[in-house]
Amino acid sequence: MKILLFYFSGTGNTWWLINEFVSRAREDHHTVDLYSIEKITNDQWSSINKFWDNADLVGFGYPIYGSTAPKIMKEFLTTVTTVHRKDSTIEKSAFVLTTMELFSGDGALALRSYLKKANLSLVYAYNFQMVSNLGIPIITYNPVSEARFAKRRARTLKKLDKVYRELLAGRKRLQNLYNPLGYFLGWIQRVGMAPVERQSWKYFGVDETRCTQCQQCVNQCPTQAIIFEDDQFTFDPSCTACFRCYNFCPAQAITIAGRSANPKRHRQHQTYIKGDYY
Ligand SMILES: Cc1cc2nc3c(=O)[nH]c(=O)nc-3n(C[C@H](O)[C@H](O)[C@H](O)COP(=O)(O)O)c2cc1C
Repeated sequence: MKILLFYFSGTGNTWWLINEFVSRAREDHHTVDLYSIEKITNDQWSSINKFWDNADLVGFGYPIYGSTAPKIMKEFLTTVTTVHRKDSTIEKSAFVLTTMELFSGDGALALRSYLKKANLSLVYAYNFQMVSNLGIPIITYNPVSEARFAKRRARTLKKLDKVYRELLAGRKRLQNLYNPLGYFLGWIQRVGMAPVERQSWKYFGVDETRCTQCQQCVNQCPTQAIIFEDDQFTFDPSCTACFRCYNFCPAQAITIAGRSANPKRHRQHQTYIKGDYY
């Protein structure tokens, strides 16, 4: 089988899951073309389009944000529809693998309408429970311990094995699609998410007393939303609310709603190595 796969991962969970999927597929001698959407350049589109025309499946991986997909993923699909594949009429089967922390009404299905516009018919969607990698000052919450995280990942891998087998065997699964409660709860979450999505950049800032101006935040931001000019950091509306800057700032200097993390209470997750997934 030929599988084309696009993913976005803010803090590493989705990157990990998608790579586990890809290693299973490659071990079974399927051909997989894998792209982190934040890194795709215009020059790559002619080869992506060639692969796409011949692909058996087109897949998408992303974290659930309030029962919807991150803005960067929705904008990516819109650009695919209106620019890169606007002349293509070839319809393909699509699948979506998402990661979440705890709950999402019908989040894995949130991209349905975007996929349809890109001539993609969704045949399989699955939402995997992972953990959050964030300890945020406005919510008293900490990342789980390494041991617990390892347990969760083992459980996720068991589910992934099943999902992989079903998907490659051509089975259809649209988790929660016909569940009115899931749809309703998802809708409520999306209503709550809408202002966060539009205004997330306004909530982020930099604590100058901690910042060492290493500019890792600037370099790691998937949407280049952090600008450093005249000794000042500003955030712009392209921010996709992934919290990567917050999670990986070596000085814990990124603030949310004006509040800095308390390093004792708001631990940073060390599970993923910076730079691996973008
Ligand atoms: C802005 C934002 C909104 C989120 N909303 C939800 C949610 O509605 N439900 C949930 O279970 N997890 C939610 N999460 C947690 C992430 O979906 C989860 O940690 C995911 O695995 C992160 O993936 P990543 O590491 O690939 O970025 C949210 C995280 C962020 C940053």
